[in-house]
Amino acid sequence: MELGVSELGKFAEGIVRAAGKLLLKLRKEPLELEEKADFSDLVTVVDRAVEKFLVESILERYPEHGIVGEEGIFEDERSDFATQWIIDPIDGTTNFIHNFPFYGISVGIVHKGVGIIGVVYNPSTDELFYGEKDKGAYVNGVALRLNKPIQLKEALVSTTMMWEDWRTKESVHSSIIEIYQKTRGLRMLGGAAISLCEIAKGTLNAYVMPALSTWDYAGGVIILKEAGGTITRLNGSELSLEKGGSLLAAHPSIHPDLLKIMERV
Ligand code: IPD
Ligand code: CA
Ligand code: CA
Repeated sequence: MELGVSELGKFAEGIVRAAGKLLLKLRKEPLELEEKADFSDLVTVVDRAVEKFLVESILERYPEHGIVGEEGIFEDERSDFATQWIIDPIDGTTNFIHNFPFYGISVGIVHKGVGIIGVVYNPSTDELFYGEKDKGAYVNGVALRLNKPIQLKEALVSTTMMWEDWRTKESVHSSIIEIYQKTRGLRMLGGAAISLCEIAKGTLNAYVMPALSTWDYAGGVIILKEAGGTITRLNGSELSLEKGGSLLAAHPSIHPDLLKIMERV
């Protein structure tokens, strides 16, 4: 692993890779699906097994750390942990179920309110994204940096805006249509965590979402920031790793243009 990566980071990377192996092994068995909030909000036995594996691995090595996980495996009610892991065992469960290779295991580590390490692993492509505060972002050890400016008309943008009550909101429709008209293309790919990493890689150039939980974006946000990306709420306000909400993540040169379009949503 490259110079400067901390012990904690190496450990996080190791358990996320191991969790990916577990996921691929379990994927070979028939998947039982369970609906959560509605028919499009799914969870599988693999989501729970991956989170359980991560929680047990973390607590064995760092019993003093806190964990916030989507599937709620960690049960300590305290909220005053100095170091907290924010875990989405599978971000993009629908893609995972459909064998659409755009999903990831996402881990963000926050120390005293500051995001310090992000690890997102896509087991189907074997790409591991890593970001550490002030030490850069990497995919499989190769540095990621958004150096070259781009224009909005060259950008490929991803969203799942047409979601829940947002799908009937007129201001959402007009903003999405404007993005569609002013960019090279608009995609609805799912997978918040991987979307953020793909922006760091330059495959996508922006991702806009009306509402997300912290586990959907914590890992990806830390990685994308280290790669030089700009991330705010849809109204331009500062993002929090403690409370979920909307997201406007983009290559820095097109973030202001997208903000102008999304602000009115
Ligand atoms: C979901 C994915 C999806 C986004 C949803 C998330 P999950 O996470 O990131 O792309 O549109 O809002 O909840 O349920 O697959 O972990
Ligand atoms: Ca998620
Ligand atoms: Ca999930």
